[in-house]
Amino acid sequence: MENKEFYVAKTFSGLEPLLKSELESLGAENCQAMSRAVSFEGPMDLMYKANYFCRTALRVLWRQKTFTFNSNRQFYEQLFDYPAEEHLRQDGTMAVHATIAESIFKTPLFASVLAKDAICDRFRDLYGERPSVDRDAPDVQFHLHIFRDEAQLFLDSSGESLHKRGYKVRNHPAPINEVVAAAMLMLAGYDGTCDFIDPMCGGATLPIEATMIALHIPAGFYRRDYGFMHWKRHDPQRWRNIRNQARILDDVPVEFYGSDINPKFVEMARDNVDRARLGDFIHVERKDMRQSKPSRTPALVMMNPPYGERLEVNDISDFYAEIGDTLKHNYAGCRAFMISSDLQALKHVGLKPNFKSTLYNGPLECRFLGYDLFSGDHKSYMTGKNIKRGLEAKQ
Ligand SMILES: C[S@@+](CC[C@H](N)C(=O)[O-])C[C@H]1O[C@@H](n2cnc3c(N)ncnc32)[C@H](O)[C@@H]1O
Repeated sequence: MENKEFYVAKTFSGLEPLLKSELESLGAENCQAMSRAVSFEGPMDLMYKANYFCRTALRVLWRQKTFTFNSNRQFYEQLFDYPAEEHLRQDGTMAVHATIAESIFKTPLFASVLAKDAICDRFRDLYGERPSVDRDAPDVQFHLHIFRDEAQLFLDSSGESLHKRGYKVRNHPAPINEVVAAAMLMLAGYDGTCDFIDPMCGGATLPIEATMIALHIPAGFYRRDYGFMHWKRHDPQRWRNIRNQARILDDVPVEFYGSDINPKFVEMARDNVDRARLGDFIHVERKDMRQSKPSRTPALVMMNPPYGERLEVNDISDFYAEIGDTLKHNYAGCRAFMISSDLQALKHVGLKPNFKSTLYNGPLECRFLGYDLFSGDHKSYMTGKNIKRGLEAKQ
């Protein structure tokens, strides 16, 4: 039996329950939702799996050591005793990221410099040479979580944030974060059994994430680099075995659509779709959302319209009202979801949401709203005279 290790996967605020259920479905034990993170236990394979399969994780940390300390000296000694040479080569590079709360340290920087000194001094004692510090792309990234007199030392197994999936050739100026996009689809219950449409797709983040879900393409499928690959004991065969566990579908009987009014973004969407090798699945075209309609129903329509903060729109309220009108008149029989940080503008959509949640796209607090788009009036729909009920309707 392999050792049970302790991990913490980080995510955005509000996505903890989704991440917890993703981890549980991978076999993680003792999953505990925390603030912007989920802790869990399991064998080493689980760390690789969480990096590769979890759509809502931003990074996966592997706990190395917990200790208490009451002075700088004790803190230094505890870290000096940690056998960093098991993971870090003496000619490798490292960085220490620290967070502190109610600690004897005034700043996280002080804690991270002291930790770095302790680790480097141990190497100097053992080998006569020490690793160097590289804050941008270290071989081994340590994280220290310090609360009062308790410290936890972690290895960052992800490296760059996992929202960097590896399919973006170019970045839209106002993109939806890939982890948030996947979470939106999961919250909407998208399982690839109906068409997906993003009529304001920008760089096609939502259509690509939707297709990945439908085809069971793992979140990390396109990514080439992970933190653990630079560790001394990285086992490439083990990693290959994990990747081979993916059961990617060849095809699904549904279509994926992304369109945008701006030709520059249409080109960007095509480039990203091509990089993801999903050109056979995702139809990208230039179109004004206000002239769009689905090829068939039911379909899931999801969009991230321009927010006042980031993109100039002449009159944001009128524009959101036009989006609402288009949904109402052209998308009957579909289910629609919209994310925006412009709460005022959202009120002008003029449809009654039956799903509401708060999500964060980077620093922006956003509302994520869902609407059933039925034909006829709401009352006759609710009393069952209307046969279509969004995604629940069978074709
Ligand atoms: C916030 S961005 C979407 C970003 C996208 N989700 C991504 O991750 O790249 C909003 C997009 O709406 C597009 N847009 C604005 N007005 C539009 C319209 N009338 N019809 C279609 N697209 C429109 C903009 O060109 C922009 O690309």
